[in-house]
Amino acid sequence: MNDLSNKKLRWGILGAARVNERLLPAIATAANSELVAIASRRPGAAAETLAKSAPGKTGVRTYDALEALLDDADVDAVYLPLANQEHAEWALRAIERGKHLLCEKPMALSVADIEAIESAAKAQGVAVMEGFMYRFHPQHARIAQLLKEGVLGDIRSVRATYSFTMRPARMYRIDRGPAQGGGAMWDIGCYAIHSLRMFLDAPALSVSAMARRNPHGADTSMSGVVDFGEGRYGQFDFSFERARRSEYEIIGTRGGAKCHVVWQLPGDVPVISWWTEEGHECVERLPSADHFRLEVEHFAACALSGQPPSLPLEDAKANCRLIVAALRSAESGRAEPVE
Ligand SMILES: NC(=O)c1ccc[n+]([C@@H]2O[C@H](COP(=O)([O-])OP(=O)(O)OC[C@H]3O[C@@H](n4cnc5c(N)ncnc54)[C@H](OP(=O)(O)O)[C@@H]3O)[C@@H](O)[C@H]2O)c1
Repeated sequence: MNDLSNKKLRWGILGAARVNERLLPAIATAANSELVAIASRRPGAAAETLAKSAPGKTGVRTYDALEALLDDADVDAVYLPLANQEHAEWALRAIERGKHLLCEKPMALSVADIEAIESAAKAQGVAVMEGFMYRFHPQHARIAQLLKEGVLGDIRSVRATYSFTMRPARMYRIDRGPAQGGGAMWDIGCYAIHSLRMFLDAPALSVSAMARRNPHGADTSMSGVVDFGEGRYGQFDFSFERARRSEYEIIGTRGGAKCHVVWQLPGDVPVISWWTEEGHECVERLPSADHFRLEVEHFAACALSGQPPSLPLEDAKANCRLIVAALRSAESGRAEPVE
C-alpha cells in the first residue's frame, strides 16, 4: 500500500468568490493539502481574497486570468466557486487539463452537463465531487447511527428547511431566473433537497412545488413535497425572505429526530434531538466541527489515493434531476415526474 501520510494535494482556487472566506482557510489548513494558487478575472481580486482569508500566507501564486491557473502545472486539484451558471463550462476546462475537481454546489444546471463532466473525468482519470460540505459534519453520522439502530422505526417523512433574509449587497444573485442559475433553489434549495435524499434513500418519483418569484423570474421562496414511493414523503421549504432556519426533521414509525443547525456557520453549536413513542426524549450537544475543512481533507485523500469520493456523480445527477422537476412544477402548478 502507498504511504500517503506525508503527501499533500496541491490546490488552485478558480474564482475570487465570497465563499472563499470559508474554503480558502479550509484548504490552507487541511492536513493533506497545500494551497498553491488562486485566480480571478478581476485584476487584483485574487490577491485581495488571499490577504483577506489567509492573512500572512505566503507562497501562493495569484493570477488575474482563470486560464493561467489551469495552465499551472503545480496545481493538482481545482476548487471551483464561480457563479452557478459557470460551473459546467469551467469544470470541463479544469478536468480536460487533468485537474481533480471539487466543484461548488450545484455542480451544473442540467443532468446532461453533469454527464459530460462525468465522461470527461473518466477519460482523464481524475476525481470529481460536488461540494456539499455539510455532509462531512459528524452530526449527520450521529443521526444515521440512530436510524441504523432502529430507534425511530421505519422512516416515513423528512422535512428540510433553510431560510435567511438576503442582504441588499447580495441581491445581484436574484437578478436572473433559474435558467441562468439565479434564485433560491440553485443557491440554498439544493441543500434542502440533498438532505431529504440523504434519509429517503430511494429514487424520487414526483414533486409538487410552489414558488414566489421576483420581477426577474428568480424564485425567492419555495415549498414543496417529494414522493419517494410507498407513502414516504420529503418536504422542503426555503427562502431568502424569512428569518434564519437551518434544520431537518425525520419522522419514523416509532419516533422522530431533528438536526437543529444543519448548514453550520462558525460559532454555531451542533445540536440534535430525538424522541420515541416509548417516552425517550434526548437533546445532544455535539462537539463543533469545521465541515469545510473535513470536506477538503476527504476530497484530497480520495484524489491522492485514487479512492472514489463519498459523494459520487450519481448523487449529483439525482439531486439535479429532482431540482429541475421541482422548478418545472413551480412553473406549471402541477405535480411533475422526476425524470
Ligand atoms: N458551500 C457553501 O457554504 C457555499 C456558500 C455560498 C456559496 N456557495 C456556492 O459557491 C459558489 C460561489 O458563491 P458566492 O456567493 O461565493 O459567489 P460570488 O461571491 O457571487 O462569486 C462568484 C464569482 O463571481 C465573480 N465575482 C465575485 N464578486 C464579484 C464582483 N464584485 N463583481 C464581479 N464579479 C464578481 C467571481 O469570479 P472572478 O473572481 O473570476 O471575478 C466569483 O468567482 C456558488 O456556486 C454558490 O452556490 C457555497
